[in-house]
Amino acid sequence: MEKKVVLSGIRATGRMHLGNLIGAIQDFVELAKNPDYDCFYFIANLHTLTTRGDPDAIKRDLRGIVLDYLAAGLDPETVTIYAQSSIPEITELSWLLACQTGVSQLTDMHHWRDKKNRLEQEGLTANAGLLTYPVLMAADILAPRANIVPVGIDQHQHVELARDLARRCNYRYNTDLFTIPDLLDREGVKVPGLDGSGKMGKSEDGRATIYLNDPEEMITRKIMEAVTDTDRKRRTDAGDPGRCPFFAFHPLLSTKDEILHVQNGCRDASIGCRDCKRVVADHVLTILKPFQERRRAVESDHERRIDEILHEGGTRARRRIKETVDRAKDLMGVPAF
Ligand code: TYM
Repeated sequence: MEKKVVLSGIRATGRMHLGNLIGAIQDFVELAKNPDYDCFYFIANLHTLTTRGDPDAIKRDLRGIVLDYLAAGLDPETVTIYAQSSIPEITELSWLLACQTGVSQLTDMHHWRDKKNRLEQEGLTANAGLLTYPVLMAADILAPRANIVPVGIDQHQHVELARDLARRCNYRYNTDLFTIPDLLDREGVKVPGLDGSGKMGKSEDGRATIYLNDPEEMITRKIMEAVTDTDRKRRTDAGDPGRCPFFAFHPLLSTKDEILHVQNGCRDASIGCRDCKRVVADHVLTILKPFQERRRAVESDHERRIDEILHEGGTRARRRIKETVDRAKDLMGVPAF
């Protein structure tokens, strides 16, 4: 039986954070343990160009992500790790898919609307790459014929576009070339920012984000300073977990008993916000301390191997991707001559 292909990527934009780890990388590692899956994890450095221009920073962040992948437990012998920029066929497929995509499908995307509005508020204009970002992402997914795409909830709309394009192309060209990719069979994860607004992100305010390499005291301080229910002003006031932005961390990290304890204790004011935060801080440190130790070890052992890992992974992924893209070009009437 042919193995199922699992594929996902991370942009090379700054340091990785807890949202990336819980929303994506922990799943990457779990899925890689399944012998029925062939996993492709890449660094989406072409997507990075939509929001970043510093070439040295992009190169540095790419290497950092490879080390993070290794520290999280991915083994380059069994998992294919590569840079998006190593595989020109992906951008080629992106053009072919762009010609199958309605402009309104792109202008309706949350990602586009949020980013465009934010840039305009700062007096800047959005580049065309930001608009076509989801098409390149569809090419990332469809080119290696991925079956499963583990991503955080913020990326679900993009995977939906990839599914739509796969169906549309298969129908239009009377083929089964494109595999219809699935999300993981569970609700997607969204790790909130510590400032109580939206999701944790790489580019948001540093105090709202727990970076994977933040030192222990900083992690604890950021959590202790996180925004909670603003109506609970004093320790003796009863709180409402349903209105507290910080409570959203508990279902992601805490045990059922801890969640119950925090919910009840908040409602009857038998615990304070610091007690509630301590539970989360302990879980975060339990995850991040061993990760950071492995990251240091991997850095000294593997820094010199990064190019080799990316070259081998890129060669392996390209072989599979080229098959799809050559066939797609032929089907669409634009083969190489
Ligand atoms: P990026 O780098 O923004 O995010 C990488 C992964 O981390 C997840 N994530 C989160 N999950 C939960 N809570 C959060 N606060 C949070 N922040 C980030 C994202 O959902 C993602 O899974 N477009 C992708 C990169 C990409 C890609 C692809 C992914 C390019 N092509 C093809 C899968 C398949 C992105 O935004 O990465």
